[in-house]
Amino acid sequence: MKWLTYIWIGILLLITGISIPQCLNTAGEGSFINKTGQQSTLDPQGPIAQNQLDVFYVTLWVTLFLFITVGGALAFATWKFRVRKGDDPDFIPAQSHGHPLVELGLVVGSAALLVVIAIPTFSGILLKDQIPVPEDGEVIEINVTGYQWWWGFEYPEHGIHTANEIVFPAGKVVKLNLKANDVIHSFWLPKLAGKLDLIPGRDNKMWIQADEPGYFWGQCAEYCGDSHAYMLFRAVALSEEDYAAWVVDQQTQSVVGEADYSPVNFEEADKDLVLKGTDLFVQNCARCHSVDPNVQTMGPNLAHFGSRTSIAAGWLENEPENLEHWILHPDKVKPGNFMWKGFPDPYNPKGPPQMEGLKDANLTREDAQALVAYLYSLK
Ligand code: CUA
Repeated sequence: MKWLTYIWIGILLLITGISIPQCLNTAGEGSFINKTGQQSTLDPQGPIAQNQLDVFYVTLWVTLFLFITVGGALAFATWKFRVRKGDDPDFIPAQSHGHPLVELGLVVGSAALLVVIAIPTFSGILLKDQIPVPEDGEVIEINVTGYQWWWGFEYPEHGIHTANEIVFPAGKVVKLNLKANDVIHSFWLPKLAGKLDLIPGRDNKMWIQADEPGYFWGQCAEYCGDSHAYMLFRAVALSEEDYAAWVVDQQTQSVVGEADYSPVNFEEADKDLVLKGTDLFVQNCARCHSVDPNVQTMGPNLAHFGSRTSIAAGWLENEPENLEHWILHPDKVKPGNFMWKGFPDPYNPKGPPQMEGLKDANLTREDAQALVAYLYSLK
């Protein structure tokens, strides 16, 4: 059995040997934990994430200290007082029953270490819960709604609805009001803040702030059904001027009018293809997707879709091949999604769907290409 012990010790040493340098230097390229760094909590880009990383490190160092001292004492005693050749196996050494000063010292020492962890932890909880009011009183407020399996972002001050890409100015406090439309989701933007659940029937609030303009990856962090893992989002922190310009862009209609879905701006696009796409969109998509930034329907709002960087709730980059694949085979991209199978009738979930999905639309490749051309004309 001796070799088994050696293997175990070897594995433990290997894990320790790999993890300690990783903990010390994680943000760098080529790190094991942080291959791409897109969702690394160890690379904070805002005050909340920085505070939470500080709490993590305090806890890590304190527990590492305890692990090494307690584990080291245990290993030393086990080795020093091991049974040797010729020892009497029935021998019992003199029994001692503790030393009051040592015991008191250990109790006080452990309590003191807990206090060392508790102080930054509690102040971190307060920091996270108290949404700061800046001197100019200007707080950017965004209503975030979790759906299976995408994110709705509403800017109540500007009357804008968008989906799956949250845009805000860097350096400003952004207050997020979190709601869920169906089941529990969790909003997680690792480089800016920890997770907070979106719960049906409950209003949760959190705040984020990005130090500098940047591009961030977010993720739903609470299991919410078939395509939970594909429920991502992207976040874009812009400079103040760029943000102001973005708001104006978003407020502008990209289609002709309420009943007319034709894009305002064709640019260099093939006009016939775009018009075919417009018809297909009205027949197959418009019941769930609005292209009016002022209106939120049951599917993601697609106003200004052409200016987004990602599709399918942050899962794919917004490129023509990806979009064509997503329109033709949504079930292969995100299993279980309603765009493919249709919306169930809430009163008869096992019966025919209340709204048909794309699986009954029999779109051809040419149809998908026309829809791609149409969607890209919405800038
Ligand atoms: Cu939404 Cu997991």
